[in-house]
Amino acid sequence: MNSIEVRNLRVSYDGKKYVVDDLNFEVKEGEIFGFLGPNGAGKTTTIRVLTTLIRPTGGTVNVLGMDVTKYGLEIRKKIGVILQQPSYEWNLTVENNMLIYGTLWNIPRIEVKKKMEELISKFDLGEIRKTMAADISIGQRRRLQLVRELMHDSKLLFLDEPTIGLDPIARRSLLTYFKSLAKEGTTVFFTTHNLEEADFLCDRVGIINHGKLYAVDSIDNLKASYEGERTIEVMVDKDPIKLVERLKQKMDGGVVDPSTSLDHPIKIVTNKVPETMEIINDYIRQEASSLLWLNVKKTELEDVFFKVVGEHHNE
Ligand SMILES: Nc1ncnc2c1ncn2[C@@H]1O[C@H](COP(=O)(O)OP(=O)(O)OP(=O)(O)O)[C@@H](O)[C@H]1O
Ligand SMILES: [Mg+2]
Repeated sequence: MNSIEVRNLRVSYDGKKYVVDDLNFEVKEGEIFGFLGPNGAGKTTTIRVLTTLIRPTGGTVNVLGMDVTKYGLEIRKKIGVILQQPSYEWNLTVENNMLIYGTLWNIPRIEVKKKMEELISKFDLGEIRKTMAADISIGQRRRLQLVRELMHDSKLLFLDEPTIGLDPIARRSLLTYFKSLAKEGTTVFFTTHNLEEADFLCDRVGIINHGKLYAVDSIDNLKASYEGERTIEVMVDKDPIKLVERLKQKMDGGVVDPSTSLDHPIKIVTNKVPETMEIINDYIRQEASSLLWLNVKKTELEDVFFKVVGEHHNE
């Protein structure tokens, strides 16, 4: 069964430009689905539609079998949502923030307390449980926002960059917690920029850029489809921008990092390593430049992402 079904979804805020353009994908029940894409790609906008906060401009979206334009209230009762923008009650303690939220969902008091204790211990909030939300650190607030939403069980969780601002330990406990939720049948839809995280957690990922979905697949398949690809990192002592231009002109397929700066290696994803090396060599000879760094490695998820996004960079 599918928890989410998206058909030809389009969203425009101004009636002119589609910031989400013809998306098609589904998320199966119990799946952890990662939504990846650079800033402004359309991730939050998509989440807003899926959580019934805004209406689609076009297309159809079903969440838990219900049309988002008709069953907003019912859907919202069944889902958990953690948005990118922080939200909590400043003038309540951590504990009371959690309790209030639990009560909102009509959960019996004894269960609310049990759940609270579980989450306090899992997310290491014991020391600050009696502290006002206004007086805790930013990362602790983020954790509070997360545990508050986890107070009630939901079949489907939406999380917009849930791990931003968390330290490595909190991040790991959160990811592990998602995994255990998914094992019990909860579907998790989350966005991230962190590919390691997606690799660790997701069954499948969708890669979105400029409102268009360029790939939806399992991490393993995505990696396999880039099996022959290699990532070349190169640094030269003179004029890297010129080398980038040269590579773009002469390379047959493959992509070059568009955001090259002087102090970072130029990154190239290609399945034609010798030919690309030739171009680099020619450049060094002709420009009397020297090589500062060269590395060829197997293409990792990050590079797959970079390639998918890079190939469509100018569209
Ligand atoms: N309320 C709004 N009104 C008008 N334009 C908006 C609004 N919200 C987002 N946009 C625009 O829509 C596009 C997609 O934004 P969105 O917030 O969905 O991106 P995102 O993928 O979540 O990015 P990020 O990684 O930075 O969170 C951007 O160009 C953004 O400027
Ligand atoms: Mg966003």
